[in-house]
Amino acid sequence: MGKVPNLWGGLMLVAVVSAGCARPSVTEGRDLYQENGCASCHGPEGHGDGRLAGSLAAKPADFRDVSQFKHGTSEDDIAKTLATGIAIVHTMPALKLTHHMLVMPQFNHLTKTQRRSIALYVISLRTQDSQRSVQP
Ligand code: HEC
Repeated sequence: MGKVPNLWGGLMLVAVVSAGCARPSVTEGRDLYQENGCASCHGPEGHGDGRLAGSLAAKPADFRDVSQFKHGTSEDDIAKTLATGIAIVHTMPALKLTHHMLVMPQFNHLTKTQRRSIALYVISLRTQDSQRSVQP
């Protein structure tokens, strides 16, 4: 058994340390929220009252109220929503036309960890009451 367990122990340590560097965090998420223009639609504190809110085809979600989330409320779900953006479908029967329009842009230029950080920040804005009613 001599050296083998030590080698694996060392490799495990390296793996844990490097995973640790890329761990998502609420603080990183708060910065990314500001840097990526989320506030222009969702408002500086995520109340759904950004300066563009009134001119959009859909009302931006108020992050305090999870009942407004249509695509899931977990860290995973929100990170996924950020990667895909949100499309709504427009139908124009007279023209026999259907088209998809992004009401919220995709943030697929960010890393997975960055999207997770933003998700954690969004979750941190939940009010106690709504948090209690939806936690799995
Ligand atoms: C151009 C305006 C706009 C920007 C910029 C924007 N959003 Fe949104 N967002 C929306 C709209 C509109 C909705 C609601 C769509 C709906 O109801 O179908 C929404 C919904 C959401 C939701 C709820 C998703 C759900 O499950 O229904 C989350 C979470 C969210 N946005 C996060 C963000 C974050 C984080 C950013 C920045 C990285 C961001 N948004 C940037 C417009 C925007």
